[in-house]
Amino acid sequence: MRILIANGMVVNADGSTRADVLVDGETIALVGRDLAAQGLRADRTIDARGRYVIPGAIDVHTHFDMPFGGTMSKDTFETGTRAAAFGGTTTIIDFANQQKGHSLREGIDAWHAKAEGNCAIDYGFHMIVADVTDAVLAEMDQVIAEGIPEFKLFTAYPGVLYSDDGAIFRAMQRATRNGALIMMHAENGIAIDVVANQNAESGHTAPWYHGASRYPVFEGEAANRVIRLAEAAGSAVYIVHLSSRDALEAVRAGRDRGTPVYAETCPQYLFLSLDDLGNGFEGAKFVCSPPLRPRDHWPELWKGLQADDLQIVATDHCPFDFHGQKEMGLGDFRRIPNGLPAVEDRLDLMHDGGVVGGRISPERWIDVCAASPARMFGLAGRKGVVAPGADADLVVYDPNRKHTISATTHHMNVDYSCYEGRTVQGGSDVVLSRGTVIVEDGRYTGTKGHGRFLKREATGAALAAQTR
Ligand code: URP
Ligand code: ZN
Ligand code: ZN
Repeated sequence: MRILIANGMVVNADGSTRADVLVDGETIALVGRDLAAQGLRADRTIDARGRYVIPGAIDVHTHFDMPFGGTMSKDTFETGTRAAAFGGTTTIIDFANQQKGHSLREGIDAWHAKAEGNCAIDYGFHMIVADVTDAVLAEMDQVIAEGIPEFKLFTAYPGVLYSDDGAIFRAMQRATRNGALIMMHAENGIAIDVVANQNAESGHTAPWYHGASRYPVFEGEAANRVIRLAEAAGSAVYIVHLSSRDALEAVRAGRDRGTPVYAETCPQYLFLSLDDLGNGFEGAKFVCSPPLRPRDHWPELWKGLQADDLQIVATDHCPFDFHGQKEMGLGDFRRIPNGLPAVEDRLDLMHDGGVVGGRISPERWIDVCAASPARMFGLAGRKGVVAPGADADLVVYDPNRKHTISATTHHMNVDYSCYEGRTVQGGSDVVLSRGTVIVEDGRYTGTKGHGRFLKREATGAALAAQTR
């Protein structure tokens, strides 16, 4: 099947140009001017006049079908990847979980079983490490060989996913040898639990206290600590879901010293605030970790994106229904499952708030949502770019179309939206995954099982060799 996408504005991270795109089978065959006029034949032509032609977005931080906080995240690989496609995201990287006392192998097998045959779009895995033992360190090498070359460790969630400094340092030393990339959830979970318990024991049990207990300085301290540990180990480190000015300062300082530290933020830290955690138990809808911050953190994070101290915007999509799941924390904010839905909304929120809002260029929008994720996570040349030879993961994107986000119309399998009633400018009109149209005219035209597992190369060594 040959598809010609004609007359659009091709937007890549390194520049935009008016051009036609010829898709042949699963890949992009040609990008050039007036391909139709040159007599090229195609089975189908999509007129992209007045619209962007962009690489399908890549979300490197999702949690589908994950046991967490005493329940399961609500989107499965089937519902989550379909919702992602509606939002112009054509690749996700999810976190396979190691359970304490179990092997990495068991976690990977479980995640393959959840995903295989169910995905609308291509997918990869990172590995969550909950238990750093000699055996697990040795297993890391095998996991990398299977195309899963990143490992996420936590300074948060004591007793569940938490690793102490020694464990983190050992994993980083191993990464220095085997080329893996260590991803860190950086919040001082031990100190947070002290404040959270003090608040709860004083009768402060509403969701707002989830945010109020997790001080920004606890994130800044942990970020600085893991960056310093990476310096000592000689490894790169990637800070996930960075939410605060304090953590950004630690990243910036590390990068200024020449440390290969990289970081992502998420839409919720750019568009939502601690205020959203108020309003009684409704605030439970916004409980995630790190928590939403006071709004004066927003401009700093935008500056971080502009200056490339933050390289990626991912979602940390981890949805729980308000009814029945978030309600587990009625009367005690510590029992509210942590996480928000966002996989469908990221590209539009970043277009609306970033590009239309005048904070970033269209090229930088593509960089943080597609090109950097591809470059940093072993998909360079294959995803995140509109260029000959790349997978034909493409979106015909209307930068002017407005729509209002709502749980009544979204495709994520969750009973509320954090952005209910917000009107955004920009929307994905046609979405292709490896040359197949999977979303068009607001309808899903893809098939369950079209998405393939992406075996990815390790980038840790290359990232460790780079500095600012
Ligand atoms: O609240 C969050 N972020 N839930 C998902 C788990 C994690 O820490 O990424
Ligand atoms: Zn995390
Ligand atoms: Zn996460």
